[in-house]
Amino acid sequence: MKLNIALLAGDGIGPEVIAQAVKVSDAVAKKFGHEINWTPALTGAAAIDAVGEPYPDSTHEVCMAADAVLFGAIGHPRFDNDPKATVRPEQGLLKMRKKLGLFANVRPTFTFPSLIDSSPLKRERIEGTDMIILRELTGGIYFGERGRLDNGNTAFDTCTYTRAEIQRLAKLGFEMAMTRSKRLCCVDKANVLETSRLWRETVQDMEKDYPEVKVTYEFVDAVAMRLVQWPNTYDVMITENLFGDILTDEASVISGSMGLMPSASIGVHTSLFEPIHGSYPQAAGKDIANPLATVLSAAMMFEDAFKLKEEAEAIRAVVNKSLAEGIVTEDLVGKNKAYKTTEVGDWLAANV
Ligand code: IPM
Ligand code: MN
Repeated sequence: MKLNIALLAGDGIGPEVIAQAVKVSDAVAKKFGHEINWTPALTGAAAIDAVGEPYPDSTHEVCMAADAVLFGAIGHPRFDNDPKATVRPEQGLLKMRKKLGLFANVRPTFTFPSLIDSSPLKRERIEGTDMIILRELTGGIYFGERGRLDNGNTAFDTCTYTRAEIQRLAKLGFEMAMTRSKRLCCVDKANVLETSRLWRETVQDMEKDYPEVKVTYEFVDAVAMRLVQWPNTYDVMITENLFGDILTDEASVISGSMGLMPSASIGVHTSLFEPIHGSYPQAAGKDIANPLATVLSAAMMFEDAFKLKEEAEAIRAVVNKSLAEGIVTEDLVGKNKAYKTTEVGDWLAANV
């Protein structure tokens, strides 16, 4: 099979972790007789520096023409402490999500048997954790009207959702629940927010179409608490953009390191696969970043975008093997036992 993949390395550790995912993907492709055609394109601060904007049209064209997008990370500290910056790398990410119609962000949280004791939570609390947070990605407060009033002394951001936006996300949630344990948790703040009440009303209306799925409705503050108490009691969760942003960061460290969790963004046009961690500028260029989240994102890409399940399983298997054998970066072991980013990538590619 011919696989056309847009490669958006982005900023910070993005290029380093992407390079390892490319090695591993190429090794898998070789093993299974596929041919990957990678098309690199600019995004983030790297794109601002080169062409003045974080998601140029040329990059969008590359993404639209590809079968899948593999994405590293976006963000640069020189913009973070400058609230007056008019162009920001993150705008590129939001523009890309909107223009590609990526309304659903699939963020799994699972544990690795060999890493159970690296988790900040106790073993008995996390054993068996295997959940998916389905985050709405192109609506809500991220894309609502915002601005300043009162000579700049008052600021506002608005959260808007339409029934249709909620339905298309919830539909994916119900379908995903049907392929798993048939449990779906709708996370909102319906005791306060009108948008949350529309979420709850919409999902309640959809329950009759999926009589086998058991739906629970929980408030986001309570979920934030239960996620660290009983993560293994959840299965599929659906939620709006900002709540999903926060809860998925919280959930991502349950496995032991933020450098482990992959994600997929799906919707209208080309699907995009990216690690959950950000650009981690402190580690950029040091060859220490954990490439596994990106490598596992490539596995999700093989499975979801190309329906190549065996190939995805081959990647997951070699990742598990590297963890079991201690071929890991310094976020998971003491510095003196750690392997470099590139060494982990080389090992995975050689052993796939
Ligand atoms: C994420 C990131 C982005 C978000 C930022 C970089 C805009 O935190 O993908 O979760 O908030 O969606
Ligand atoms: Mn985030």
